Amino acid sequence: MKRILAFDAAAIHRGNKGLDIDHIAVAHEVDVLLARMTLAQKINELRGHAPRPVEGLYYAGGDESLGLPPYKMVDGPRGARAGKATAFPVAIARAATFDVELERRVGVAIALEVAAKGGNVLLAPTINLLRHPGWGRAQETYSEDPHHMGAMAVAFVSGAQNHVLTSPKHFALNNLENTRFEMSAEVGPRALNELYLPHFKRCVVEAAAASVMSAYNKVNGVYCGEHAQLLTDILREQWGFKGFIESDWFLGTRSTAAALNAGLDIEMPGPYRFTDDKLELALASGELSEAVIHRNARNAVYQKIAWRLADLPVPDPRVVECDAHVELARRVAEQSIVLLKNDGGLLPLSNRSGLRVAVVGDLADIANLGDRGSSFVTSSAVTTPLAGLRERAEQTTLVHFKTDADLSALRDFDVTVVVAGLTYKDEGEFIPVAQQEAEGTDLARGGDRADLALPERERELIQRAARASTRTVVVLEGGSAILVDEWIDSVDALLMVWYPGREGGHAIANVLFGDVNPSGRLPVSFPRSMDQLMPWDVAALSVEHDLLHGYRYLDHHGHAPAFPFGFGLSYTTFTLSNLDVRRLGPSFRISVHVTNTGARAGATVVQLYVGCEESRVLRAKNELKGFGRVELAAGEAAVLEIDVSDDDLRYFDEAIGDWLLEACVYRLSIGFSSRDLPLAMRWRYANDDWTT
Ligand code: BGC
Repeated sequence: MKRILAFDAAAIHRGNKGLDIDHIAVAHEVDVLLARMTLAQKINELRGHAPRPVEGLYYAGGDESLGLPPYKMVDGPRGARAGKATAFPVAIARAATFDVELERRVGVAIALEVAAKGGNVLLAPTINLLRHPGWGRAQETYSEDPHHMGAMAVAFVSGAQNHVLTSPKHFALNNLENTRFEMSAEVGPRALNELYLPHFKRCVVEAAAASVMSAYNKVNGVYCGEHAQLLTDILREQWGFKGFIESDWFLGTRSTAAALNAGLDIEMPGPYRFTDDKLELALASGELSEAVIHRNARNAVYQKIAWRLADLPVPDPRVVECDAHVELARRVAEQSIVLLKNDGGLLPLSNRSGLRVAVVGDLADIANLGDRGSSFVTSSAVTTPLAGLRERAEQTTLVHFKTDADLSALRDFDVTVVVAGLTYKDEGEFIPVAQQEAEGTDLARGGDRADLALPERERELIQRAARASTRTVVVLEGGSAILVDEWIDSVDALLMVWYPGREGGHAIANVLFGDVNPSGRLPVSFPRSMDQLMPWDVAALSVEHDLLHGYRYLDHHGHAPAFPFGFGLSYTTFTLSNLDVRRLGPSFRISVHVTNTGARAGATVVQLYVGCEESRVLRAKNELKGFGRVELAAGEAAVLEIDVSDDDLRYFDEAIGDWLLEACVYRLSIGFSSRDLPLAMRWRYANDDWTT
């Protein structure tokens, strides 16, 4: 039987230039350089050049006389935002693949395109925990779970750092869009360390992320751009971060001395707070010292030396939207599609000639790539769902009905495919007017979703189509959880396709017709109603962050969601057996047999959750601690191995201010979603020893 290791760290990190740095040699070289630099030269390294990007590149620092190139920063999480580039599925879609190797390859591809466009810093990944699915930028991030987030982010960073520097963002707790410039995320040490920071830490410690972008919001009342505890105590001192911290754009730097003293190294996109006059004043008043400027300038130039930035290869521009990247975008879109309902095995659609398919909805014919904020990417060609279906369904009669069309003719079709969902008008980054003016961006609404239901027009469309059709499939587009309760019983099948990128139409057609067996799993719980989630106020200026959100909250309160975290169906079936848990050093090695018991090849995502029984402190019922994607031919079986270290089982003890492995019973459960865990084993930890 083949053996599959769930997370192969050596494979994920291959080629990551950040992991190859000789820090002792670099530190010496940087100090020699700094000793030659004047105060003005140091100050020059602490800021971006201008509010407006030049061909997508935001410049910062750089001095030819010192042999220091500028940083040239490019957004973002779903492709290079510099002219036309490969528009990949949004990050949350890629997260639904639970496929770390694939995400590594997306990182490589996006970074190659960024480098080909002249950039050397990729302003991605976005790794703010999806605390509430209504967050406007949900689509940019990976998950409501920190372990899942960390695995995907580490894969992206390591892939991308084969070619350019990355900048995980926004540090930290940036998870409400409408009030992001003012709101304060209130958080205690335990939730901060266990939920909101671990994936940032992994990017820095495991994947050597070269830079980090601070956030707009406040944490516990202090703006992130001047938060000494976050920027210096945690990031640099505790995690040993060696790169530079740049502010988020425009309102991300709120002060001069306070920001620099706290450890913000580079103000982006241009000098507002770090202007010559303001710096002079701060120095004169004694609020700021030359030693701090020296320290931050050192941080700002460190990666220029460490990465030999001046010599970073610029790839052939033909890599942009090359066949391999387009093919990758299609493959990722295919794997990201989550089959949520399939009554009577309606899907896949049969390939018989003469099949009559009605495609309903304006969205079927629209390139729906996601929000139009800083992560917006345009491609030279985009395949819409309708175009993809037309190309695929050669022998099929295919007719498109617009949203406002008379749908009574649908009864004459074998099946109706309704394409419904959200667009950039419903959710996304909320671009401030000043930035829109500076960049000439369209007035895109975006922002948070106060309500997770579809807009009324889309809900009505689904209901009208379902009433008129014999059988109905809904293809749902959007960047996060959507309420389906009102209409789910009227339809036969449901696919969540997210914002699937430039190749989305091909991917949707391939899944509908069964060329591809769906294997996506939800990275965010889909509740039945808003009441099942924590209170959500998109105008809040202060938001309490505790230990329970997403599936943790649903489990704790005993709510059965519409579709749980980690859930997704397939055209085949899988079973788990032979769970074995062994101690291996300070870790558990969990192995389980996974068998494809159906008649088709397919892939499943096996998930490991840990619960702690008899704990002295509040614990989530189950927490994801490992997962592995397994591809199997019909009838085939494999052994999946997942490693979980004792450190992964610790909780952050607020009294001692450190991680603690509590003496209690640990339940290791394995299954196909947070609510489908057929196998479990218990281990007791007591007197520094483990027993079953
Ligand atoms: C966003 C960042 C982005 C930056 C540059 C900001 O408004 O929050 O994510 O990288 O703009 O476009």
